[in-house]
Amino acid sequence: MRVETTYNVAVLPGDGIGPELTEEVVKVWRAAERLNDGFRLNLTYFEAGAGLYLRTGEILPRAEFEAIAGSDAIYKAPAGLPDAVLPDGTEAGVTDVLLRSALDLWANVRPIKLRPGVHSPIKDIPEGGIDYVVVRENTEGLYAAWSVGAKNVTRAPAPAGLVLREEVAVDNLVVSRKASERIVRYAFDLAMQRSGCPADGTRRVTCVDKANVLKSYAFFRQIYDEVAAGYPQIQTDYAYIDAMTQWQVRHPGYFDVVVAENLFGDIISDLGAATVGSVGMGPGANIGDDIAMFEPIHGSAPKYTGQKKANPLAAILSAAMMLDWLGRRHDNAAAVRAAQKVEQAVDAVLLDGRCRTYDLGGTSPTDAVGDAVVEKLETLIS
Ligand code: IPM
Ligand code: MG
Repeated sequence: MRVETTYNVAVLPGDGIGPELTEEVVKVWRAAERLNDGFRLNLTYFEAGAGLYLRTGEILPRAEFEAIAGSDAIYKAPAGLPDAVLPDGTEAGVTDVLLRSALDLWANVRPIKLRPGVHSPIKDIPEGGIDYVVVRENTEGLYAAWSVGAKNVTRAPAPAGLVLREEVAVDNLVVSRKASERIVRYAFDLAMQRSGCPADGTRRVTCVDKANVLKSYAFFRQIYDEVAAGYPQIQTDYAYIDAMTQWQVRHPGYFDVVVAENLFGDIISDLGAATVGSVGMGPGANIGDDIAMFEPIHGSAPKYTGQKKANPLAAILSAAMMLDWLGRRHDNAAAVRAAQKVEQAVDAVLLDGRCRTYDLGGTSPTDAVGDAVVEKLETLIS
């Protein structure tokens, strides 16, 4: 018998629809394990986020954080509830922002892919016509203000040249050379591994910023240019954030890899996911040097809690990204293969078309979609 490799996975079921999505994720992982003899997942659950805050006043207790940080990988479902608001007016449940920052999970990788049988709300998009990856800087940008930003600064003096009246709150946008270089390099390395954009196969990295107005973004672009010089095989490309949103709708097939500051990456990833069917189709990975966290890009949708309405596919595809990352990191071909099979199973369910949640035009409940993925996985692996 083969010796199995066991990976310790911290699971954060989150708030709202988070726990019901996590059930489907675990179902798929267990099937992938059962059908593979190359790896096992040892899951440890942690309560963190808005629900915990409302009960205890804590978002993520220190001891829990230490345990999560010591795992091989993290799976996180959406967190946050509208009632869980901090005195400064921001949400208490943003465990993702906290973990990204505390664990230096610097690359937020969000594939935007039109999957077989899914209709884009944009007309005349051929099958496979949207396939790009948003690479979002994950540790600074405007989110650098999250823990340190000036909160409720009243009657602050206006920065020179700008007229500000009465009450003012200021959040600083931070762009450092180190964080920009590593994220831009990640984007170019990713483009090297891909086969270009769907429209014409050109390998391209698009730099999204607002360099026409803000120095921080001009600096980001300068670093993009410096890094790009080392990748003559990849086409350089620039888009201001406002123009970017219209290109994502008008010519999504043009994009291959897109690199952006934290907040802009946040916005364009939701827009991108909507163009490939729904935010319920947007998986994501938050990758650091030694540990990574996987989560769908969408929110906790509190109004659907417990209703089994939500699309579990973004969560399941994130879970597949985790298997792929673990497999590559630990040289475990079985885990990499399992990730590919899960993705194929998702595509098979979508192509079949009978089992879909409301956001994709169906009426199936969350757990039926999870079951359908497991069923396809069984036929693919056996
Ligand atoms: C995301 C989410 C988070 C973010 C929220 C929940 C804090 O929108 O992962 O994209 O802003 O990053
Ligand atoms: Mg977001």
